[in-house]
Amino acid sequence: MSATQAPHRETHALYPPTAEPAAQPLPLRRFLLRFVRNPLLTLPRSAYEEGIVVHDNGRGIVAYVTDPALIERILLGDAERFPKTALERRVFEHTLGDGILTSQGASWRWQRRTAAPLFRPADLAALVPVMSAAAEEQIARWERAPAGVLHPIDQDMTETTFRVISATMFAGSADAEADAILHSADIALSSISWDIAAAMLRFPEWLWYPGKYRRRRAGRNLRHAVSTILSRRRAHDGGAHDLLARLIGARDPDTGQPMSEKQLIDNLVTFLAAGHETTAKALTWSLYLLARAPEWQHRIRREVREVAGTSQIDAGLLERLTITRAVLEEAMRLYPPAPVMTRQVGVDIELGGMPLPAGAAIVIPIFAVHRHRKLWDDPDRFDPQRFLPERKAHVGRTQYMPFGFGARTCIGASFAMMEGVAILATLVRRIDFEWDGEHLPEPLSRVTLRPKGGMPLHVWPLKPAAT
Ligand code: HEM
Repeated sequence: MSATQAPHRETHALYPPTAEPAAQPLPLRRFLLRFVRNPLLTLPRSAYEEGIVVHDNGRGIVAYVTDPALIERILLGDAERFPKTALERRVFEHTLGDGILTSQGASWRWQRRTAAPLFRPADLAALVPVMSAAAEEQIARWERAPAGVLHPIDQDMTETTFRVISATMFAGSADAEADAILHSADIALSSISWDIAAAMLRFPEWLWYPGKYRRRRAGRNLRHAVSTILSRRRAHDGGAHDLLARLIGARDPDTGQPMSEKQLIDNLVTFLAAGHETTAKALTWSLYLLARAPEWQHRIRREVREVAGTSQIDAGLLERLTITRAVLEEAMRLYPPAPVMTRQVGVDIELGGMPLPAGAAIVIPIFAVHRHRKLWDDPDRFDPQRFLPERKAHVGRTQYMPFGFGARTCIGASFAMMEGVAILATLVRRIDFEWDGEHLPEPLSRVTLRPKGGMPLHVWPLKPAAT
């Protein structure tokens, strides 16, 4: 196996893929070309250095906000003045409709209250063995291949986390549709920057742009696969107490009505998609960083061996895996699985000394907050020690925010952390991941943060004696 740089010296991520801000709004063509290639390329460098940068892109005002205090105001203190955006609704209406992620007001509150009881950390603990078992199945698949070959880690993690969400929240009902869902979700996200750019620039609905109809078709296929799951459950109830059953049984507190077929599908697609794709990316980038920094791989392996021996990872053991958790947290700092959040200005307002008109777009680039020059010491360096208990206490809640913040914070955050730590611990205990020495994956913002060119890594199963 090839040696790589000493991990504590590794300034691996290089300067983030940003570009100098244009002094004037970029001409439409240049803006579009940059945005569809990778929206992170349109983030001004000043967003990594200042707290708020206001820019007129020629079609409207955009404020890039990275100051933790201003973010807290937008997402909590003054949240009702910074609603979710019309842009987000337009981009997602063909796939996620009016589900929990995209809805607002009373409709959102009801959907959130309906789902929330399933995400209580105490109740999630029982699901940890299912998460660990999904990782063990992945190891068994790798062990059937010749040792040391390159595997597409991003795809493998997507399949593993999909199995987890299907088994835990859908009582396995989504397994039969896994291929159709994963394929359609991949197409729907792969070039979604075109849809976002079209919405931002207010293209009329009828206007053609690349990939539009292919992505719409993928969205329809995704919804069709989910409606099959729903029909099958209605035909054979089976008495499951999962998310699917909860959503079917929910009643609107005002009208007493159940969710319509459309609302159910909106939410099922949302939970299936949001519930696996982000965690898969967190694991993919974690394994990449570990392959670049083998010392941290050894530290995790040592920790898991000491804490769990060869036992399956369960909720009780999770608590004690502090190094594994710190690695996952540091990976989500450098590569936040959801790299950008947006809101819009509801009424004319002042923010950080800048007057912003109603309708202006607010961009919270989590990617830039997590690598901000003034918020972090040596921001591009992979250093999990930042998240070991003694130092973690000093990290602000909107300085590090992979799961968002405020009332709309990720409902699945505890689920994802349990899953991420359980899977990472299970994999690293039994597998050595090696970088191929060449591939430097550019992080591409496609709603989630994808590695350009995928994530090929050499996979070396370890002999049980070495675990
Ligand atoms: C590492 C994994 C994950 C990351 C980084 C992540 C990130 C986020 C972020 C940043 C938001 C806030 C969006 C906003 O306010 O605009 C969010 C919301 C949401 N997430 Fe996650 N998420 C993860 C895993 C999950 C899982 C496992 C589930 C479900 C099982 C889930 C379901 C949701 C839902 C339903 C919302 C919308 C909540 C609302 O608007 O009330 N996420 N997520």
